[in-house]
Amino acid sequence: MKGVVLAGGLGSRLYPLTKITNKHLLPVFDQPMIYYPIQCLVNAGITDILIVTGGNSAGHFLQLLRNGSDFGLARLSYAYQEGEGGIADALKLAEEFADGEPICVVLGDNIIERNIKKAADDFRAQGKGAKIMLKEVHDPHRFGVATVTDGKVVKIVEKPKEPETNLAVIGIYMYDNEVFDICRTLKPSDRGELEITDVNNEYVRRGTLTCEVLDGWWTDAGTFESLYRSSTLVRDGGANRMDA
Ligand code: G1P
Repeated sequence: MKGVVLAGGLGSRLYPLTKITNKHLLPVFDQPMIYYPIQCLVNAGITDILIVTGGNSAGHFLQLLRNGSDFGLARLSYAYQEGEGGIADALKLAEEFADGEPICVVLGDNIIERNIKKAADDFRAQGKGAKIMLKEVHDPHRFGVATVTDGKVVKIVEKPKEPETNLAVIGIYMYDNEVFDICRTLKPSDRGELEITDVNNEYVRRGTLTCEVLDGWWTDAGTFESLYRSSTLVRDGGANRMDA
């Protein structure tokens, strides 16, 4: 399985911090944010990684990460996302890189305490379809929210005003190669983006989506509150660290 870190976007929820730099280069405690999703993939045994980024400071990723050898990567590739098309639009840029293999996609502002090794191994054994990771949260309206019956996801709603459950869909997704055909069929949502939730709901429709509940803490880091919280969580409780 190959890895894809999505690190584009304007990061407008963090203005003015992101006016001159990319959100994923901002510090989370003592490391740049992008280190954590890369380490998350490495801990799952994934060492062939594509970073999809965009915007003015895209070149800084190359300066920071170089060829990825600090992380022990076999190969580090880069793609550039034009404009602001959303997560599923960014994912389209990974098709040639994936080259028929399954992929594990991590949103560049998602940080977890432990690891996804078991989920990745389960997905390797699953062989087709997709797998998402869920986490109980107290503010589900900020996320994609899953309704689960008998261990199966029956639907996902993106940022519902009245969430049916408190199970957030976290930004770590595993897909077979059909994901690229699905991305091609998507229409922009009300916020003008191609939504990853629409991709996941298509796998629900096809009956090939599995889910696992994440162990340990999870946070995004895309708002002032969550960015601040991510630093304190990393300081107090460790995370996927390069030097751990
Ligand atoms: C995105 C997804 C959402 C998911 C979240 C996880 O939200 O659209 O389904 O729960 O990432 O961080 P966004 O950060 O684009 O608002």
